[in-house]
Amino acid sequence: MNGQHILILDFGGQYNQLIARRVRECNVYCEVKPFDKVSLDFIREDKPSGIIFTGGPNSVYAEGAPSVPRELFEMGIPVLGICYGSQLMAHVLGGEVSTCVTSEYGKTETEYDKDCPLFASQELPRKAVSWMSHTDYISKLPKGFKKSAQTWNCPFAGMYCEERKLYAVQFHPEVNHTEHGITMIDNFVKKVCGCTGDWTMENYAETAIKDIREKVGSGKVLLALSGGVDSSVLAALLSKAIGRQLTCIFVDHGFMRKNEGDEVEAAFKDWDINFVRVNAKDRFMDRLRGVSEPEAKRKIIGEEFIRVFEAEAKKIGRVDFLAQGTIYPDVIESGSGDAAVIKSHHNVGGLPDYVDFKEIIEPLRMLFKDETRKLGQELGLSDTLVWRQPFPGPGLAIRIIGEITDDKLEILKDADWIFREEIAKAGLDRALNQYFAVLTNNRSVGVMGDFRTYDYTLALRAVETTDFMTAEFSRIPYGVLEVCSRRIVNEVKNINRVVYDITTKPPATIEWE
Ligand code: XMP
Repeated sequence: MNGQHILILDFGGQYNQLIARRVRECNVYCEVKPFDKVSLDFIREDKPSGIIFTGGPNSVYAEGAPSVPRELFEMGIPVLGICYGSQLMAHVLGGEVSTCVTSEYGKTETEYDKDCPLFASQELPRKAVSWMSHTDYISKLPKGFKKSAQTWNCPFAGMYCEERKLYAVQFHPEVNHTEHGITMIDNFVKKVCGCTGDWTMENYAETAIKDIREKVGSGKVLLALSGGVDSSVLAALLSKAIGRQLTCIFVDHGFMRKNEGDEVEAAFKDWDINFVRVNAKDRFMDRLRGVSEPEAKRKIIGEEFIRVFEAEAKKIGRVDFLAQGTIYPDVIESGSGDAAVIKSHHNVGGLPDYVDFKEIIEPLRMLFKDETRKLGQELGLSDTLVWRQPFPGPGLAIRIIGEITDDKLEILKDADWIFREEIAKAGLDRALNQYFAVLTNNRSVGVMGDFRTYDYTLALRAVETTDFMTAEFSRIPYGVLEVCSRRIVNEVKNINRVVYDITTKPPATIEWE
């Protein structure tokens, strides 16, 4: 590819995406590729400014362990090996790797050689904490290498060969626990690789708009707009690029949060695009009557969504491109590195393959979530859209346990609104990754004034997570929970009890259905 960039070779480490995000935080573009999909010819063609090897679960001596040819180190391209990547560099270049008597895991005091360009910055002290997670270690340096870091348990926690621009660290500079880790990465990509750091969302928007115009020409583009961050930012980008050649279809199934359908419409309806809102609540409710099993609910909503979208798309006739809000984590997780990705968590029902179109376009596919948000800001989207928390395609339908009725939907919308309002008042809205109310199907006895009540229990859920694959429940201050509970039981009819979900994922999921 053209321009400065770092190629990240993925050896299966758990922090591969984190490394990429850190490089991008240095305003340097990078791409993550599975190590076995990258040949020397690819590298020659790609001309990266530098290569980073990620960590990985293997031992370099294990049969079939991931490796790279020795020639890779002779191409004059700077390389930084991290954890397994560092051991691999040592192993391939004739050093030795051994198994630790005790594995090193966690925060570890580390001594750095300030002559090594990675650690030369003034703010980086000679001794600081690094994050270790390994069972093997480099026990003998390859010829021409010098030690650059050490811990009590690891004689070569870092090594380098300045002339050949080869660097390796046993610890994880990408993890926040490594003090000044980002400075080390910045030093590698800028001082060693010579990148200038011109990857910004402002530049990205400009290039992306130009590329979209070139690709689309005078063609028509269709986008299913859910109001979520990815599809909203995509709509903003496409509208800037091609204006009225874009049609956005927003299927409002009626299970959005309070006022949200109107907010999405208000955000987009005055733009220079074709914006279609389909109010389909009745259709969805009809099909869901009497259904209480979670998977059955999801399936019905998914199918109905597709039908509504299809009917609307047919009115437009043939479109040339279908736009998808795929973002980079979806691409990396698919393991493909480049093939078109069908978004597994696509709004509800998967790819609408019945729509007649020529090609899929995914202009956000190289962006991380935080970059997508920045791009949204750059394009002038409101904070409400840019900072919207993740919301499942089936919406509140899977936050009402059991059968969905109009009454239950209204109860949940009101309660959820109060919860969100109080979280925002407490200044916690950006600290929590997801927070919402669930209307349980449980009813219990209470007392209101002089009367006995027999009403619903509402559950509040708030989680902190980086990847949504695992999650911690949030330690919301009791004071905030108390206000939420008091307001909800007072202001929302038919709720007489509020509970807070203190389960982690796993074993629980984030959603209740
Ligand atoms: P779970 O409940 O599986 O949720 O722990 C993980 C994340 O995925 C979201 N989620 C969905 N997102 N369509 C989506 O686009 C869906 O059908 C769906 N179901 C769950 C959930 O809100 C959480 O962020």
